[in-house]
Amino acid sequence: GDAELQRHFEERIAHDQRIEPRDWMPEGYRKTLVRQIAQHAHSEIIGMQPEGNWLSRAPSLRRKAILLAKVQDEAGHGLYLYSAAETLGVDRSELTEKLIERRQKYSSIFNYPTLTFADIGVIGWLVDGAAICNQVPLCRSSFGPYARAMVRICKEESFHQRQGYELLLTMMRGTDEQREMVQEATNRWWWPSLMMFGPPDGDSPNTQQSMAWRIKRHTNDELRQRFVDMTVPQAEALGVTLPDPALRWNDGRGRYDFGEPDWSELKRVIAGHGPCNEERLARRRAAHEEGQWVRDAAAAYAEKQTARKEV
Ligand code: ACO
Repeated sequence: GDAELQRHFEERIAHDQRIEPRDWMPEGYRKTLVRQIAQHAHSEIIGMQPEGNWLSRAPSLRRKAILLAKVQDEAGHGLYLYSAAETLGVDRSELTEKLIERRQKYSSIFNYPTLTFADIGVIGWLVDGAAICNQVPLCRSSFGPYARAMVRICKEESFHQRQGYELLLTMMRGTDEQREMVQEATNRWWWPSLMMFGPPDGDSPNTQQSMAWRIKRHTNDELRQRFVDMTVPQAEALGVTLPDPALRWNDGRGRYDFGEPDWSELKRVIAGHGPCNEERLARRRAAHEEGQWVRDAAAAYAEKQTARKEV
C-alpha cells in the first residue's frame, strides 16, 4: 500500500539514492520539484534579456562572440530544465503560460537593468558566481533528471563566470574611467546577488522540507555565506571594493561577517515591483506570441508524420 511505498521512498532518500521519474513519489515532492525546476528554467530564459541588451553594442568582435555564446548557453539551460520538469508530468507550454500570467516566479536578479558594458563582466563574476555556488550542490539533488541537468549547466556556468572575471580584469588594466565603471557596476550588483540565495533561513518556508527530501542540500544562508567567503578574495585581486561597511574577516568563525541585505527590496522584486519586472515579462510575452507560428508549424508537421506512419 501507500505506507509501504512511502517507506521505500524515504529509505532511498536516506541512502542518497536517486529518485527517477517512474518511481513512486509523494505528491508534495513532485510539486516542490515542479515549482523549483520551472522557476529555475524561467530564470534561465528571462536571464537572456539583461545580457542580450548588449549584444549589438559589444565593444569588439571577440566580446560579442563570447557574449553571444553565453546567451545561447542560457537558452540551452532553460530547455534542459523544462525537459527535466516534463519528466514530472507537466508540459512546457503550461509552464510558459504560468510564467506569462505571473503564476510562477523567476529569479529576482534578472529584474535589474544592465546600464554599462561593465555590467556584463559583473554579471559573469557575481551573478554566475552565485549561481554556481547555489547549483553545484544541486548536482547531488535527489531527483535524477534535475541533478544530471545540473552537471552540464554548472560546467557552462563556470565558463560564464570566468569570461566575466576576465572582462573585468581587462577593464581594471584600462583607463580610470573603465575602473570607475567596474566599481560602479559592482556597487549596483552586490546586494541583489546576495539576494539570489533567497530569504534568510528563518523566513524561508520551503527550506526545511526541501532539505529533508534532499532536493536542496544546503540552506539559503549557508550558501550565501559560502558565496561571500569565495568572492571577497576575488574582489581584492580585482582591486574593487564591495559596498558593505560591515564586511570583515572573523577569525573565530573562520568566515567573513557581512551586513544584512535589504529584505524588503527582495520582497518587492519578487512581488513584481523591481526596476525591470514589467519590461522582462512584456518582452517574454511578445517573444512567445511571435513564436506561435513556429509552434503551429511544428505541430502540423508532427501530425502529418504521425498520419503517414498510420497508413
Ligand atoms: N528570486 C525570486 N524568488 C525567490 C528568490 C529569488 N532570489 N528566492 C526565493 N524566492 C521565492 C521562492 O521561490 C519561494 O516562493 P514560492 O514558494 O512561491 O516558490 C519564496 O521566495 C520563499 O523562498 P524559499 O522558501 O527559500 O524557497 P526555496 O526553498 O525554493 O529556495 C532558491 C529558493 C534558493 C532560489 C531555490 O529555489 C533554488 O535553489 N533554486 C534553483 C536555482 C535557481 O532557480 N536559480 C535561478 C537563478 S540563477 C541563474 O539562472 C543564473
